[in-house]
Amino acid sequence: MRFFLDTANLEELKTGARWGVVDGVTTNPTLIAKEGVPIEEQIRKICDIVNGDVSAEVVATDTDGMLTEGRKLAKIHKNVVVKVPLTRDGIRACSLFSREGIRVNVTLCFSAGQAILAAKAGAYFVSPFVGRIDDTGWNGMELIRDIVQIYKNYSFTTQILAASLRHSNHVIDAAKAGAHVGTMPFKVLDALFSHPLTDKGLDQFLKDYAKAFQDAPVSR
Ligand code: G3P
Repeated sequence: MRFFLDTANLEELKTGARWGVVDGVTTNPTLIAKEGVPIEEQIRKICDIVNGDVSAEVVATDTDGMLTEGRKLAKIHKNVVVKVPLTRDGIRACSLFSREGIRVNVTLCFSAGQAILAAKAGAYFVSPFVGRIDDTGWNGMELIRDIVQIYKNYSFTTQILAASLRHSNHVIDAAKAGAHVGTMPFKVLDALFSHPLTDKGLDQFLKDYAKAFQDAPVSR
């Protein structure tokens, strides 16, 4: 499973990149707006930090507008994946982009039927939003399992990018379900490191070692 950071914050991305476990980045208009920097400038900076796919989302809602914005975004860096919403105009833009060789992440996917449309339009990624489905009282992970099954049945090559992952169990369950990618906020990635037995075990190892050797004579 590839790990993407779902953030446009450069400090978070630098920290994640230093750990060596970040394979890419997803952004959306909300995350870009939070950083207060125009999208093209911010995406360029992100591509300098993380060597992997970087999703940059259009804000136009009509196909022609999406094509104009998306082509501009795709020119920023070879790793840019253009993100479009799962609307009729978005799906049409996706199929046109894919014929031009521009990779597309179809976002705001909330049903298996929508995921089939994204695959048929040649999407590189489809982004089902697990947490937001959970918020409505349904089971977001069921959707991931359904899409994995359907894509397998028809050998669709679109990769399933599990999004809106809110905690460690979301990441683990998406991996068990067979999602190709999990995108998560920095705090979720950070939380994956934590286990009280790791802390306790390390503490004990260091204490035992210090007790045995701190007063021992230096060997020659
Ligand atoms: O990539 C989609 C993600 O940003 C949505 O997450 O937690 O706002 O539902 P959330």
